[in-house]
Amino acid sequence: MKHRTCRHILTVEDLSTAEIERIFSISEDLKAKYAEGIREPLLPHRVMALIFEKPSLRTRVSFEAAITHLGGNAIFLGDDAGFGKRESIADFARVLSQYVDVIVFRGKAHQTVEELAKYSECPVINGLTDYAHPCQALADLFTIRELAGKLEGHTLAWVGDGNNVARSLAEGCAKLGMRFVMATPEGYRFEADFLPRLRAKYPKFEFEVFDRPEDAVRDALVVYTDVWTSMGQEAEAEKRRRDFHAYQVNGRLMAHTQKGAVFMHCLPAHRGEEVTDEVIDGPQSVVIQQAANRMHVQKGILAWLLASHS
Ligand code: CP
Ligand code: NVA
Repeated sequence: MKHRTCRHILTVEDLSTAEIERIFSISEDLKAKYAEGIREPLLPHRVMALIFEKPSLRTRVSFEAAITHLGGNAIFLGDDAGFGKRESIADFARVLSQYVDVIVFRGKAHQTVEELAKYSECPVINGLTDYAHPCQALADLFTIRELAGKLEGHTLAWVGDGNNVARSLAEGCAKLGMRFVMATPEGYRFEADFLPRLRAKYPKFEFEVFDRPEDAVRDALVVYTDVWTSMGQEAEAEKRRRDFHAYQVNGRLMAHTQKGAVFMHCLPAHRGEEVTDEVIDGPQSVVIQQAANRMHVQKGILAWLLASHS
């Protein structure tokens, strides 16, 4: 075995609250230094491999930039590496992890990242699957804390599809003490036991599921939405457009929010579907700060993971 302990981050639940706090504290420090022009080489010569089964701007570039700023290197594996085609995932993972220190994987099915992690001898980070998007949720919660000073006592209102991003945010809210509410049509909500299971694990976790977006956003500090049709669901796009029609985040919906409420979106956005230009480009929108924080928080994740767990 190359590594004695090998931690993987496949969901937010793989991290304890204290570990998330530690990651945020490293991220905050590295973000402040970056703003002063300092790129601290905490991970010299460390190598990251990225395997992406789906497209990406933010996740790929923010991870590649993060490891470069930290003094390491990134190798993006294209189709020619033959992931899932030339050999078993187990063999791929066993071999790749002899060469690199960390693997970032974006996959179609969550089982694939689990399989990769099972056989990898270096840490695997989930850069999005159909089930979860933990790095997104961690950066978002970091952003909310930057804006509001704390998460406890505040409400995040998810409007739209109960998807990978929503699931990871709910896990993060449960761990960090933020209330999570969602307005999601029947048929697009989480699996029935998901939120109750989180509450059983984190008894202080408060959540509520609404039919009407207006009811969900009323007490929220954050109104969050994502595309109605995620990557891989393109065949359902027409039906989804119809089913989510009443769930658009527009000026009328934002008028129901309290003073100081912000709008968040993981991006990329389908403008004119889940969100209107007036909202995403408006004064309440913090989407660019969110996107910027992907890099800062992933630096925190990498520095924490590779310094203490590889
Ligand atoms: N938010 C996000 O993960 O964006 P990409 O799909 O561009 O990586
Ligand atoms: N839910 C979206 C998130 C993209 C970052 C998707 O999976 O396509």
